[in-house]
Amino acid sequence: MEDLTPNPKDLDPIETASRDEIEALQFHRMKRSLKHAFENSPFYRNQFIKADVHPEDLKTLGDIAKFPFTVKQDLRDCYPFGMFAVPQSRLVRIHGSSGTTGKPTVVGYTQADIDHWANLIARSIRAAGGRPGDMLHNAYGYGLFTGGLGAHYGAERLGCTVVPMSGGMTERQVTLIHDFKPRIIMVTPSYMLSILDEFRRQGLDPRQSSLQVGIFGAEPWTNAMRQEIEDAFDMHAVDIYGLSEVMGPGVAQECVETKDGLHIWEDHFYPEIIDPVTGEVLPDGQLGELVFTTLTKEGLPMVRYRTRDLTRLLPGTARSMRRIEKITGRSDDMIILRGVNVFPTQIEEQILKCRGLAPHFQIELTRSGRMDTMTVHVECADDHAAADARAASARELSHHIKSVVGVSTRIEVRDPGGIARSEGKARRVVDNRPKE
Ligand code: DLL
Repeated sequence: MEDLTPNPKDLDPIETASRDEIEALQFHRMKRSLKHAFENSPFYRNQFIKADVHPEDLKTLGDIAKFPFTVKQDLRDCYPFGMFAVPQSRLVRIHGSSGTTGKPTVVGYTQADIDHWANLIARSIRAAGGRPGDMLHNAYGYGLFTGGLGAHYGAERLGCTVVPMSGGMTERQVTLIHDFKPRIIMVTPSYMLSILDEFRRQGLDPRQSSLQVGIFGAEPWTNAMRQEIEDAFDMHAVDIYGLSEVMGPGVAQECVETKDGLHIWEDHFYPEIIDPVTGEVLPDGQLGELVFTTLTKEGLPMVRYRTRDLTRLLPGTARSMRRIEKITGRSDDMIILRGVNVFPTQIEEQILKCRGLAPHFQIELTRSGRMDTMTVHVECADDHAAADARAASARELSHHIKSVVGVSTRIEVRDPGGIARSEGKARRVVDNRPKE
């Protein structure tokens, strides 16, 4: 694979600024943003008054810890437009969360918000190895989901030629990749695996494709999956992170030259890691829940938004801005099985160690009596489909999970194609336990 380290002169100056410069900018912007939230969002005015804090109380960046958290339920309670800090007429776009239950959480953007977002996605694509003039195949879903349009505007901003594919119609995705020869693809990692299957089904060698860089996010994926995709396509695979409440994709981005976690674009988002139980701020390096305060957003400023994503803050490397380690998972997706905490990413890692298995899986939880059981449904690799090979793969996977993760699981090895394919975010856990 080609070395795609960018020319330092192509970076935004703030990407390589000193920590002092970054923190000075953060403090200035945080103060302005808290004032904007207090003065223009009835929700935040109330929250601050209830917590007996005022934007003037912010004397240092660390003082943000005096301010109350915001949680997803607050957005639901304010549905649809109650949290905005500008009149609706100033919003140029609305997006919604990808939540599958109940009403969506609604987010809104002013023209300035959309501009910042496009700039940050352009910066992210460049960090991933993209350049002006590249053709970029965008298979994130277009619509209320922030992935499609978010990536689209940023790719245009960088000067790419965008193919606005959206998700689905996998056969056509492959045809267009083959015919148009994009250099970059943006898509969820699980849908990239469906595209990989389709390459093979059409008799095309994925390693001969034009793709050189994949920018994968919107769901957790492991370094083992990175290896799998990089080997299959002979391309770079880097991670992009974000969430609609805080902006959308492009809150943090992994650099192609280091692939060592994601740099948070700290000139626009102030991160904290907290203990998810006590809410206490943890020092950099410790694992906990990621919390963001937005520094420039007008339409929907967010103060200490609890993402529920678990990770740790690490010092900058390729850029001066701090990194997050690849997300382990969401606290909501954590399975507690007979006292052991299990994340789907841990199961993914073990599956990818087994040569006889394909990387498509789903975890099912059931209960008989008082016993919870976890079944891992996974597919056999094409060349390991015979009954004895499947039994051996099941034993191997069960052994890895038991010795590394520490839980006993049932393994069901299905035929190739036996696990439902995602066209966006994969559904990793199906909970069939009776509701209490
Ligand atoms: O998924 C925004 C996005 C689109 C990010 C395209 C990257 C690429 P939501 O639908 O609001 O927004 O979901 C946000 O998805 O809190 C995480 O739990 C998860 N997530 C997003 N990116 C990653 C990632 C978009 N790189 C929620 N790794 C977040 C792990 C991720 N989880």
